[in-house]
Amino acid sequence: MLSGNIKIFELLKRSYPEVKKHSVELGDKTYANMFTQHPELKELFKNTPPGQSQRLVDAILFYCQEVENYELFYDRLDKIAHVHIQAGIKNEFYPYMKEAFVKAIKEVFKEKATEELVRAWTYGFDSLSNELIHAENLIRKYTN
Ligand code: HEM
Repeated sequence: MLSGNIKIFELLKRSYPEVKKHSVELGDKTYANMFTQHPELKELFKNTPPGQSQRLVDAILFYCQEVENYELFYDRLDKIAHVHIQAGIKNEFYPYMKEAFVKAIKEVFKEKATEELVRAWTYGFDSLSNELIHAENLIRKYTN
């Protein structure tokens, strides 16, 4: 288990520069995929300033690069969680975005999207989602 995780961290860090190069396309495709599957979610973004797909991918990339140094991400995580609560984001929306993101990785990297790479970035996305869901649950519980 431990060695499996170390390998994922290494793979995330190693593939980070290449993934970063394609971050605009990755963000755009993630949103396009999500809205194709779940057009009802578009409504949530009606007042969102431009560049949201980039903010999403930047957050994922930053987290995946620093996955062993989670405390570096803490302030950013707290801010995103508050914005999500304000925007009415529910826990059950996360799997929709995960599916859209994983599909986008495969579309952007095509034959370079090895099973290992896809597994590592899915792990990164899941891990960040779990942190956000946890933070959002706590905010809901302790504020009203
Ligand atoms: C790992 C998953 C996610 C990450 C990393 C993420 C990241 C972000 C970031 C960085 C922001 C901008 C925060 C700011 O303004 O400072 C944001 C806002 C937002 N996110 Fe997420 N997000 C995730 C999941 C989701 C999901 C599942 C949904 C809904 C389907 C969602 C919908 C939104 C909306 C509606 C906003 C508000 C934009 C606005 O109107 O300002 N996010 N998210």
